[in-house]
Amino acid sequence: MRVAIGSDHAGFHLKNYLRDRLKNEGHEVIDVGANTPESSDYPDYAARVGRLVVSGEAERGVLVCGTGAGICIAANKIPGVRAAAVSEPVTARLARLHNDANIICLGERIVGPELAADIVRVFLETPFSEGERHIRRIRKVADLENNC
Ligand code: RB5
Repeated sequence: MRVAIGSDHAGFHLKNYLRDRLKNEGHEVIDVGANTPESSDYPDYAARVGRLVVSGEAERGVLVCGTGAGICIAANKIPGVRAAAVSEPVTARLARLHNDANIICLGERIVGPELAADIVRVFLETPFSEGERHIRRIRKVADLENNC
């Protein structure tokens, strides 16, 4: 799968760890930075990954900051992004099945590398359930983007 990945400084080490693991597993990974652990701003990386996913240049996105919260809030400002901040695999699975989440957001200060890798694996493996009620709700979410 083609995966875009990005982080601020607070997610830098976990982002690099996940990037290398995904590459080793055979995924094509687009790393949008940060490229150093110097202080940086999470909206910049949320925007890069979000645009790659919405344009179709990447099939899914992975974002990391200190908590997963800020970078998720920023990513969800981009129309077409459905980003979920997740700290365990059950929510990762349900965010795919029910919400068709296209970006997963993690906190390096919250989850360890093995748990994070498991969350990302579940996120990439799980399809959208395409149940009628889920499609209806996702359309309503998209309507919010257009009508607010
Ligand atoms: C940076 O210190 C930190 O605030 C940021 O990575 C993120 O956790 C914000 O939500």
